[in-house]
Amino acid sequence: MRAISVRRGHPLLTTALKINPQSPIDHLLAMFADWGGLLQYYLAMGVDLSKLIERIPKAELHLHIEGTLEPELMLALAQRNQIELPYADVDEIRRAYEFSDLQSFLDIYYAGAAVLITEQDYYDLTWAYLERAASDNVRHVEIFFDPQTHTDRGISFATVIYGIYRALQDGETNLNITFRLIMCFLRHLSADDAMNTLEEALPHKSCIHAVGLDSSEVGHPPSKFVAVFDRAREEGFLTVAHAGEEGPPEYIWEALDLLKVERIDHGVRAIEDAKLVARLVDEKMPLTVCPLSNLKLRVFNTLEEHNLKELLDAGLCVTINSDDPAYFGGYIGENFRQSQRALGLSAEDIYLLAKNAFIASFISDGDKKRYIQELEMAMK
Ligand code: HPA
Ligand code: ZN
Repeated sequence: MRAISVRRGHPLLTTALKINPQSPIDHLLAMFADWGGLLQYYLAMGVDLSKLIERIPKAELHLHIEGTLEPELMLALAQRNQIELPYADVDEIRRAYEFSDLQSFLDIYYAGAAVLITEQDYYDLTWAYLERAASDNVRHVEIFFDPQTHTDRGISFATVIYGIYRALQDGETNLNITFRLIMCFLRHLSADDAMNTLEEALPHKSCIHAVGLDSSEVGHPPSKFVAVFDRAREEGFLTVAHAGEEGPPEYIWEALDLLKVERIDHGVRAIEDAKLVARLVDEKMPLTVCPLSNLKLRVFNTLEEHNLKELLDAGLCVTINSDDPAYFGGYIGENFRQSQRALGLSAEDIYLLAKNAFIASFISDGDKKRYIQELEMAMK
């Protein structure tokens, strides 16, 4: 199966041999004809690239700060804020992380966030993530936060953003990690709610670089939020949106055409629509892919079946990210390592994935160049 998925990413060969990618016999023919590519693939499977993965500088572009709440910190904050949790200890919390889809995850994720009350809680949460990211040699982060998860519980917008932002500033000074902050609207709530949240954010505009869209995807298409995103762009925010994680390719079209996004978060279902793939390639539209998240939420049954390599081979600007690492069993380094092993990624693939993240980030061209030079040094 793996070989066949590699084969699909080779349009030159399929054209030259007039191979029908749907036919199993033609697939077999292609596998033998493309022995060079196959050999390279199996060689990559056997090579341990974990040292390379460890040392390359990375940018993380798809990370929900609420999704970095580790069970240990959840318990400590519950105790500090005198909040009763339905779990007795860390093991019980981890045992509860058995998800069958996005919604079953979100239910637990929003419940966990209830331990976050004070500015210091938000600081501690963000700082813990940054220390973890530094150990993976992350050099730049663009993190999401969901204000509505907190303001709906009576926490002020200022408490949330001051805590997160202060930690990010300290991270830049002390851990050498640059950052951008992205405010997400919860798409299961109304467009009016999102507009009110945008207005609440305006006094803090200088801290927020972009707006995004997350939470339950199916039934809440990007078209629901056109007015909010129009207003956000008028106010000078860049835009991104989760699309094509569980939702259909049409949601990706809407995110591009209606919300005018700079990146698609997830986007893995783009593969179902050839015209869409061609457009994403043509526009160099980045996809912030999260392999371990997709595995945990059963977007793919196994990591071997993940289409990341296929998307990369199709010429898409694919990046690797951790999404909600405390819940999905791995930070960015682990996402790289497990994807490399499962998909037989080569050193060149790893380079491209890391470089794509710097290219797709919201930093200046000068900073991009500097980070990519750092990456190239680490490849030697
Ligand atoms: N998808 C949608 N909403 C989310 C996610 C996700 O992967 N993580 C946190 N909120
Ligand atoms: Zn996400």
